[in-house]
Amino acid sequence: MAHPPVRWGVLATGAIAATFTEDLLTLDDAEVAAVGSRSPEAARAFADRYGIPRAHGSWAELAADPDIDIVYVATPHSAHHAAAALCLDAGKAVLCEKPLTLDAVQALDLVHRAEAAGVFFMEAMWTRTVPAILKMVETVHSGVIGEPRLVTADFSVAFKAGPEHRVRDPALGGGALLDLGVYPLTLSRLVFGEPRTVHAAATLTPEGVDDTTAVTLVHPGGGIATLTCSISADGPWSATIAGTEGRIEFGRHFSWPSGFSVFRNDDLVQRVEAPFLARGMVHEAIEAQRCLREGLQESPLAPWAETLGVMRTMDEVRAQIGVAYPAA
Ligand SMILES: NC(=O)c1ccc[n+]([C@@H]2O[C@H](COP(=O)([O-])OP(=O)(O)OC[C@H]3O[C@@H](n4cnc5c(N)ncnc54)[C@H](OP(=O)(O)O)[C@@H]3O)[C@@H](O)[C@H]2O)c1
Repeated sequence: MAHPPVRWGVLATGAIAATFTEDLLTLDDAEVAAVGSRSPEAARAFADRYGIPRAHGSWAELAADPDIDIVYVATPHSAHHAAAALCLDAGKAVLCEKPLTLDAVQALDLVHRAEAAGVFFMEAMWTRTVPAILKMVETVHSGVIGEPRLVTADFSVAFKAGPEHRVRDPALGGGALLDLGVYPLTLSRLVFGEPRTVHAAATLTPEGVDDTTAVTLVHPGGGIATLTCSISADGPWSATIAGTEGRIEFGRHFSWPSGFSVFRNDDLVQRVEAPFLARGMVHEAIEAQRCLREGLQESPLAPWAETLGVMRTMDEVRAQIGVAYPAA
């Protein structure tokens, strides 16, 4: 039997809100029912652009809209906590952009609110939901590369951003770690789990957020991850998972890959193709909708404990490199 469409509310009208909405519109069982913005004009313009029935000129109106099943939060990181809290407290399910919040304290507070409201809540860490990443986890568990010992991953983008851009603004939670480093950290966690020790170094921008950051994680079983991110370097944006018998290589865009290569003794033994649908963000929407229909409060692909673990590691990295946010 066909499902009734899940009714989405989109909170904020920026770049990723547009991409996510375009991905949602490719699904037969999703409806973009409303958009909410800080301004009625921006909400109206976004609604007109995508044919969205209701445009709300405040987050509170969106949160109170009775004909929405789930809100997708797409503000800058500094506003994730306030926006998601408003929606969760109003009894709405929430899919909130990454990083979930500025720090682990805010993240845990949102989890408590979701628990209290009895609603679904998930970080929009789409990497955890794309088919090639799920396949990679399966491949590692199959033992084909032996015991994983080393993860190397980079997410560096030469934004050429001025100081007014959100990635350089401390008030908006700027910096490479929260914007980009969250992906290598998530990849490492998928392979090794919780790190035992965290070592970090960074160069900061004149505004005091991290421009380029390197993190080394050591795990209880001895596995090591070396992870880099930058908002000023045109990096490879690639990743390798090296084991005792071989390795898995992701090319560029490892955070939303369409496949990967498996090597043993330096021979390519398998090329795994697992293309994503639409622009890739649709997979987190499909997962959120599945969880909603099954009455789950958290996604097994992106459980709260995993999101909180990454947030705690980022807190430790920021403490070591000396980045603090006024809003945290
Ligand atoms: N999953 C991904 O691949 C991906 C990619 C890029 C970004 N992101 C995440 O998505 C979030 C938004 O990034 P973006 O690139 O879309 O940013 P953006 O283009 O600057 O859009 C953010 C939107 O949030 C609202 N906003 C702006 N300043 C705000 C403030 N001070 N307080 C509250 N709301 C504010 C605005 O919408 P209104 O004017 O309508 O309020 C703005 O259009 C970030 O947390 C980022 O990490 C994820």
